[in-house]
Amino acid sequence: MSTHHECQDPGDEAATPQQPSRRRFLQSAAAAATVGAAPHLRAQTQTPAAPPAQINQAVPPRPVTLTVNGRAYTLQLEPRVTLLDALREYAGLMGTKKGCDRGQCGACTVLADGRRINSCLTLAVMHEGEHITTVEGLASNGALSPMQRAFIEHDAFQCGYCTPGQLCSATALLNEFRNGTASTVTADVRRRPAQLSDDEIRERMSGNICRCGAYANIVAAVRAVHGGSGQAGSAGADVHDGVDAGIGHGTTHHSTA
Ligand code: FES
Ligand code: FES
Repeated sequence: MSTHHECQDPGDEAATPQQPSRRRFLQSAAAAATVGAAPHLRAQTQTPAAPPAQINQAVPPRPVTLTVNGRAYTLQLEPRVTLLDALREYAGLMGTKKGCDRGQCGACTVLADGRRINSCLTLAVMHEGEHITTVEGLASNGALSPMQRAFIEHDAFQCGYCTPGQLCSATALLNEFRNGTASTVTADVRRRPAQLSDDEIRERMSGNICRCGAYANIVAAVRAVHGGSGQAGSAGADVHDGVDAGIGHGTTHHSTA
């Protein structure tokens, strides 16, 4: 028995020219892998390319004047600053809350010329010349608005985080209804809705999420104000401005700008 035979891989016993042995196959595969890796190895040894020239230059802040709750604020803002951040971080009006920061919860709802918007989805520079109303501007001369009083009377909040947005939204809701704006549950959108049913209130408030689940009491508060004076927009000159100008909220959910 030859030495070669002693060291032979059992897999070589059946090898023929037409049928390469397992050892030869493994040797070929290893060689192929080495060749394939060569470009990668060369690339690793090359000098790294110089970093690309910076093309996204920061745009410097510029003065932006916002009229909020009847007062003019001139703020130094970059164009990318949202209205929500401008209100909270630059104007110091912390009543408007940041929930999701992506238009899904309604916590940041404010009124722009009487129209409710998600302030996290719009840039502050887009609102120069408009009258912005935040929750701080709903009360008038130290007196709570009818909607604020109704929220208290109907226990329409628990933690209160969503409440500023709920109040702004509910205030605009009644003005929209008064102006004849239909919602997706309005039976005949060609006619003025006959009454503000609970379904109408729920649908029109559906852009405002309450994690505490105070929905039933929020609906009761809105219903009470509607059934009372129906003048939810009476608090705050900014709200009146928007309504009197015929600027209503055109859809069930919030506008983004
Ligand atoms: S923070 Fe949630 S919608 Fe703006
Ligand atoms: S009261 Fe807590 S989230 Fe609405």
